[in-house]
Amino acid sequence: MIDLRSDTVTKPTDGMRSAMAEARVGDDVFGEDPTVLTLQERIADLLGHDAGLFVPSGTMCNQIALKVHTEPGDEIICEEDCHIVNYETGAIGALSGANVRTLRGAGGIISADQITQAVRKGYYWEPRSRVLSLENTHNKAGGTIWPLDIMTGAVQAAREHGLTCHLDGARLWNASVASGVALREYASLFDTVSVCLSKGLGTPAGSVLVGSKDLIQKAHRYRKMFGGGMRQVGILAAAGLYALDHHVARLADDHANATRLATGLSRMNRVRVRMDAVQTNIVMFDVEGGDAIDIVDQCRQHGVAIVPFGPRTIRATTHLDVTTSDIDDALQRVTPVLDT
Ligand SMILES: Cc1ncc(COP(=O)(O)O)c(C=O)c1O
Repeated sequence: MIDLRSDTVTKPTDGMRSAMAEARVGDDVFGEDPTVLTLQERIADLLGHDAGLFVPSGTMCNQIALKVHTEPGDEIICEEDCHIVNYETGAIGALSGANVRTLRGAGGIISADQITQAVRKGYYWEPRSRVLSLENTHNKAGGTIWPLDIMTGAVQAAREHGLTCHLDGARLWNASVASGVALREYASLFDTVSVCLSKGLGTPAGSVLVGSKDLIQKAHRYRKMFGGGMRQVGILAAAGLYALDHHVARLADDHANATRLATGLSRMNRVRVRMDAVQTNIVMFDVEGGDAIDIVDQCRQHGVAIVPFGPRTIRATTHLDVTTSDIDDALQRVTPVLDT
């Protein structure tokens, strides 16, 4: 099976497993795991923030941040297809009691004007606009990258109205490698940023939330409350450190493979791909003459695993465990399904 469902399906490499086996560890709930401390400092530094917090998942990372930034009844402004609203099991309502105000984006991007118009006027009967949360790269839009100037404008508009700004940077690594914009240039715009190690970087688990010392201290408390305090977790942090050294620059290969896949798919009769949206490691495409779930099933029978992302929309993702020849092979395997 050529597994293109997600960049989370990767298995740790031999080098990563050795780094994990050799990790120095301690009880991280007591703040005594040296490898976790190193990882937190290193990622905070890379992203231009004061402090970092190692967290089991991207979802917990985002939800801790939103909890830190809001009180019940506050409102979070975000793009309508974003992960925090659509794929985190309603956690914003459940854990923070906050409202969401979703704005229709173009390729996952919302404008400074949209944000300005969405901010509440401050009447006491309204929810209180409190947070702007953005996503880079944007998953559902197809791994699209926020241009730095547009992102800067969006954050400035939010700041003019006193909003706090969070970035879901699960795949910020991909955005940075593809655009050449340094991680910290994006990240320093925000009060908090969450980045994932378990996606393109290929670790078994783990995300890091960065922010000021004060915000991370508050986040630390919520991590424990949400059940995310872990013990000798330097084993996982070591995988993260290994990934920072070995798996960031190579994301360019995943991006080239995604473009190759998208180009091949775009030549098939039943497929529509918006090539301008293929900017990193995700290929989102529409299918004609059939339902996405059925077509995904048929592709699986031909040895290619992909995921439905809408009635006619399918997502394929490239990653560490697929090679360029796997992509060519996958294109051949799906030809009987998609090129009829
Ligand atoms: C943009 C984005 N944010 C957050 C997450 C959540 O990460 P996790 O699956 O580690 O909870 C994902 C997962 O795919 C994602 O794509």
